[in-house]
Amino acid sequence: MGLDGSVSSSAPSDGAVVRMTGVDVVRGENHLLRGVDWRVEADHRWVVLGPNGAGKTTLMQLAGALLHPSRGEVRLLGETLGAVDVFELRPRIGLTSAALSQRIGPAEKTGDVVVSAGYAVVGRWRERYDVHDLTRAGMLMEQWGVAQFAHRPFGTLSEGERKRAQIARALMPDPELLLLDEPGAGLDLGGREDLVARLSDLARYHYAPAQVLVTHHVEEIPPGYTHALLLRGGEVVAAGAADDVLTAEKLSDTFGLPLDLTRTDGRFTARRAR
Ligand SMILES: Nc1ncnc2c1ncn2[C@@H]1O[C@H](COP(=O)(O)OP(=O)(O)OP(=O)(O)O)[C@@H](O)[C@H]1O
Ligand SMILES: [Mg+2]
Repeated sequence: MGLDGSVSSSAPSDGAVVRMTGVDVVRGENHLLRGVDWRVEADHRWVVLGPNGAGKTTLMQLAGALLHPSRGEVRLLGETLGAVDVFELRPRIGLTSAALSQRIGPAEKTGDVVVSAGYAVVGRWRERYDVHDLTRAGMLMEQWGVAQFAHRPFGTLSEGERKRAQIARALMPDPELLLLDEPGAGLDLGGREDLVARLSDLARYHYAPAQVLVTHHVEEIPPGYTHALLLRGGEVVAAGAADDVLTAEKLSDTFGLPLDLTRTDGRFTARRAR
């Protein structure tokens, strides 16, 4: 896959794309996140793993400037949440999630879904886009294998085609941080393998944004991902270099059952230990 040739904006002055310090997110009696410390650098590609309800989507909402912490500090692209206009921050962050995809009208033309992201809105709202936007949208749709659907309503695309269109949309504003919350959910085996290969290419592309991928399945970790964060019950079980964190012991701890983990050619598989 040929990837975007443009150079992303320079890294923020303090070096970190995401820096969370002592972060809690509390709703009523519930700690959705507790004591989270996390640092993502521009050249990092993180996978976030954890069982249902662990707090992965909450973590992505913080990193996407969609949510403020109850306690602690979240710095994104050199700015501190609470002390920055989030509407200036959000266009610098590309996000895909099930919640966002539900907000896309099924009658919206796929090409419009992608091109309108540059304006941080869902759906086309301007009558005219400049040539640069249309060219970039066309290039991204080619790269993500959805160019042939430009004139098709988004609602007529298959799950896999929709996932790829959403990633093209997320990349449209040339973000400095790309957050992918379960992009592999609902894909068949071929769709998953195609997505993993494309994400692996993107991970290895020097000028690509910092990336964070949330998944339930180690099989979906693209080769080239450098770091891993394991969450359980709102707390970080382990975070750091992928080779240190992606171990049978730590995954067993995270998912609460004994697991065997194997790694072949950079791909992982996990199964219950016998
Ligand atoms: N507004 C809220 N009030 C109370 N609890 C909430 C609220 N929002 C989320 N939660 C709870 O916080 C926990 C973490 O939710 P989150 O969506 O971050 O989990 P997740 O790791 O993304 O799970 P999944 O794998 O199922 O997507 C869940 O138990 C959820 O029920
Ligand atoms: Mg989630």
